[in-house]
Amino acid sequence: MSITKIPLAGVIGQPVLHSKSPRLHGYWLRRYGIPGHYIPMDVSSNDLGIVLGTLPKMGFRGVNVTIPHKETVLEIADVISDRAALVGAANTLTFQSDGKLHADNTDGVGFISNLKQEAPDWSAKDSTAMVLGAGGAARAVIAALLDERVPEIILTNRTRARADALKAHFGAKITVIDWTQAASHLENLSTLVNTTSLGMTGKEPLKLSLDGLSSKTLVTDIVYTPLRTKFLDDAKEKGCQTVDGLGMLLHQAVPGFERWFGYEPDVDKDLRQALLV
Ligand code: ATR
Repeated sequence: MSITKIPLAGVIGQPVLHSKSPRLHGYWLRRYGIPGHYIPMDVSSNDLGIVLGTLPKMGFRGVNVTIPHKETVLEIADVISDRAALVGAANTLTFQSDGKLHADNTDGVGFISNLKQEAPDWSAKDSTAMVLGAGGAARAVIAALLDERVPEIILTNRTRARADALKAHFGAKITVIDWTQAASHLENLSTLVNTTSLGMTGKEPLKLSLDGLSSKTLVTDIVYTPLRTKFLDDAKEKGCQTVDGLGMLLHQAVPGFERWFGYEPDVDKDLRQALLV
C-alpha cells in the first residue's frame, strides 16, 4: 500500500479506558512497521453522529465501536453488512472512499476463527450446540454457529423471555430451555458456549453442574478476565477440550485492521502474550 497520509483508526465507547483494542492494534502496527495510529476515544451517545461525520476528514479510515454504541450506530451507517444486520449491532466501521459509512460485525467471525485455530478438529456441523446467555454476545455467537451450519442450538438464559426473543429472530434451529434445566441437556453436544458475564472478575461464577457433559464436547467461554474461568476448569476436569475467550477478541480485530491499515495481521502466541501483560 502506498501511504500518502498517516492512516488513523481507533475505538469509540463510553467508557473506553479499559478497552484492549488500542494495545492490540498498536502491537500489530509496530510489528508490521506500519506508520499508523489507533486511538481510544471517549464519546457520548449525543456526540456519536457528529464525531463519525468528522473523523474521515481527519484521516481516519475507520473505527471500532463498543458499549454503548454498538446498536445505535446502525441508525447512522449508510451501508450495513448482512451479519451486522442479522446480529443487530456493529463493532467495525469503515469510512469508504465514496463517503459512505460501512458498518460490520466481526464478533461472530472472531468467535469461529478462534475455535478453528485452537481446536482444528472441531466442527459446528457435528452435533447440537448449547449457548448460555441471550445478550448481545449471544446474538453474534448464534448467528456465527448458524452460518457454520450447526444442526441445532439449545439456548438458555436466566431471563427466559430474552431467549424466546432470540428464537423468534433466528428461527427453527433454536430450542429454548429454562435456565434451571441446563444441566440436564448436556449430553451429545458438539459445543458448549458461555456468553454470559458470569465468571468474569468481580462477578459471580457460573454455577452449572457439568456431570452430564461428554468429554467430546468443545467448551468455550467468551469471558477472558480471568483467562481460565471456573467453567473452563470444570470442563477440562471432565476431559473436554476448552478454548478461552481472549482469542475471540484478537480474531474479531483482524478484518478491521486489514481494511484500515492494508495488511492482514496474524493472531499468534506472541500477540496473546502482549495482551496478557
Ligand atoms: P452482552 O451484550 O455482553 O451479552 P448483556 O446484554 O448485558 O451483555 O447480557 C449479559 C448476559 O449475561 C445475559 O444473558 C444475562 O442474563 P439476563 O438476560 O437474565 O440478564 C447474563 N447474566 C448476567 N448476570 C447474570 C446472573 N447473575 N445470572 C445469570 N445470568 C446472568
